[in-house]
Amino acid sequence: MRKKFLIANWKMNPETDKEASRLAALWDFPGVVLAAPFVFLPIFSKRLRRAALAAQDVYWEKEGAYTGAVSARMLKALGVEYVIIGHSERRNFFKETDVIINKKIKAALGAGLKAILCIGEPGPIRRKGEPAVKKFIAHQLREDLKSINARELEQKLMVAYEPVWAIGTGRAASPKQIIAAIDFIKKHLLITLNLKRSVVLYGGSVSKKNVLDFLSSEEIDGLLVGGVSLNPSFIKSIRNYK
Ligand code: PGA
Repeated sequence: MRKKFLIANWKMNPETDKEASRLAALWDFPGVVLAAPFVFLPIFSKRLRRAALAAQDVYWEKEGAYTGAVSARMLKALGVEYVIIGHSERRNFFKETDVIINKKIKAALGAGLKAILCIGEPGPIRRKGEPAVKKFIAHQLREDLKSINARELEQKLMVAYEPVWAIGTGRAASPKQIIAAIDFIKKHLLITLNLKRSVVLYGGSVSKKNVLDFLSSEEIDGLLVGGVSLNPSFIKSIRNYK
């Protein structure tokens, strides 16, 4: 099997560094990108041997009076390699727009980080059918990646197709829906943005039940795992598979 990426997105979990360290030890294998809350990043940057480290967010300014914010340069200096940008939870709860997401991607790439851009349609758009989904995704890609050099994106961008209706609902998209979306995203990146290579993952209710199907699909370059990334028995099952 060719190498697949696994992004473990812990979101705002777990509560203590003790629990976090236990989970991180389980996730520490090649191909893994561990997206931990900011508070755990300094601990893990010293401790992880095989997994790479991601932040779940970044602010676009370089430095200054932005209380509570964390810059791309700070992350880079810590040894963080990736940052998730545009997750639907940030778009919804924190009202992040495509303009903000575009600024964050530029700041991340400028500081030498790799960006994991999350895109995907909400339920009402999916119910309108495939053409509406494609239109929605194309719009996000165009706006989020506006005015960024294609060669830089080839090196430093991963896209995660994450339909909003599938995130945290226990209702994953079907392989057919996923493959159609990934194929569309890759074509869009190639034709509209001139990216000769791209990495496109799937995320949304990945579970012990469906993970092997997804991983064995040639079209899916990897998975972004939320809820079950905190579940030791899930992590162990994936570990053995790889
Ligand atoms: P989920 O989250 O796996 O819990 O659906 C996915 C995500 O973080 O995007």
